[in-house]
Amino acid sequence: MKNDCNIVVLPGDGIGVEVIDATLAVLDRVQARHGFKLHYDRRPGGAHHYKDTGNAFPDSSMQACQKSDAILFGAMGWPEIRYPDGTEIAPQLDIRVHLDLYAGVRPIRAIPGLPLPLASPRAKDIDFVIVRESTEGWFFARGRGTKRKTASGDEAVYDTCEISRKGCERLFDFSFRLAEARKKRNPKKGKVTCIDKSNVFLGMAFMNQVFHERAKLFPAITADHCYIDAFSLNMIRKPWDYDVCPMENQFGDITSDLGAGLICGMGYAPSADLGDNHGVFQPSHGSAPDIAGKGIANPTATILSAAMMLEWLGERHQEARLTNAAQALQDAVDSVFAAGRVKPADIGGNDGTGAVTRAVIEALG
Ligand code: NAI
Ligand code: MG
Repeated sequence: MKNDCNIVVLPGDGIGVEVIDATLAVLDRVQARHGFKLHYDRRPGGAHHYKDTGNAFPDSSMQACQKSDAILFGAMGWPEIRYPDGTEIAPQLDIRVHLDLYAGVRPIRAIPGLPLPLASPRAKDIDFVIVRESTEGWFFARGRGTKRKTASGDEAVYDTCEISRKGCERLFDFSFRLAEARKKRNPKKGKVTCIDKSNVFLGMAFMNQVFHERAKLFPAITADHCYIDAFSLNMIRKPWDYDVCPMENQFGDITSDLGAGLICGMGYAPSADLGDNHGVFQPSHGSAPDIAGKGIANPTATILSAAMMLEWLGERHQEARLTNAAQALQDAVDSVFAAGRVKPADIGGNDGTGAVTRAVIEALG
């Protein structure tokens, strides 16, 4: 039995702080209702921390992450604050590599009641999961794989993309197991679609070969394939056809924003970065400098990420209280929008962060 968990909280920059504070208020109510305790350990990190101290993410924050039961993350990065090489401060990427969080789980689910951008009545059936490989691919280059053609680096720059057998096997095994779990809950599900560019890149052809090898171990799940360019088309034409979609790191980065667009924006897109021993739970969005400080950031994506955290902790520790709390939290969010109780600014309404937070707390009872 595990009924208290240590949670490292990393608010970060911009609206990261706003959506985290909202989510902690919601989690207070969830704990009171379901009889467990989360101990928060709030730690610094991010672009403004780098600006103030010269260090983007203190070792003490990373060590706290390593020791925690789970990590709740807001957003980090600020376009005007950069390293001398021109790239941005992004501790979220460092954490993924450091804690070996290979599966970036990004559910794209239409919350009932939202005014979805696709006109088709089937848009309400959108419910698929992007599984973004998060330790290699094109992000492998970050800080290590880059080669410059000349010493000055002003002629050409090469960013190396790594696709490894280990990276592929664990990504696909995770995806097939996720599809099994989703099929158990909904018999219409049970398909894994490998998204790649195996018609052009050798690394992707290798990835596709490993996909078919691993698919044989999961005969009850349909193994499907789509090239990334056609997948971009199908995400608009028939996104309801998909279930679990594993892909290379950068493809997953881009398609998760496109997927968020299908369900009314970044404010509705949660995520979990999972490894075998650690989990970071955060909205798919960034620090949103354009709306930071205005009180209109939508906390829904972060609240749903917290629900994913409770589900993951519940499964890991076989603790029904956490599992039930996760479901209750998602149900509360759904009921708020289904009943039209709030209309956030990102769908043309006037409800800010506080109003959405209060509505979810009220729905929890
Ligand atoms: P962004 O995701 O912060 O914002 C994109 C658009 O979505 C903006 O128009 C923003 O207002 C809107 N948006 C995002 N979250 C929202 C919410 N909760 N409610 C309502 N509207 C929301 O992406 P952007 O502008 O490209 O990046 C801003 C900064 O965040 C950059 O420094 C970037 O590097 C960083 N970033 C950090 C991430 C992370 O910490 N995981 C992920 C993505 C970007
Ligand atoms: Mg992104």
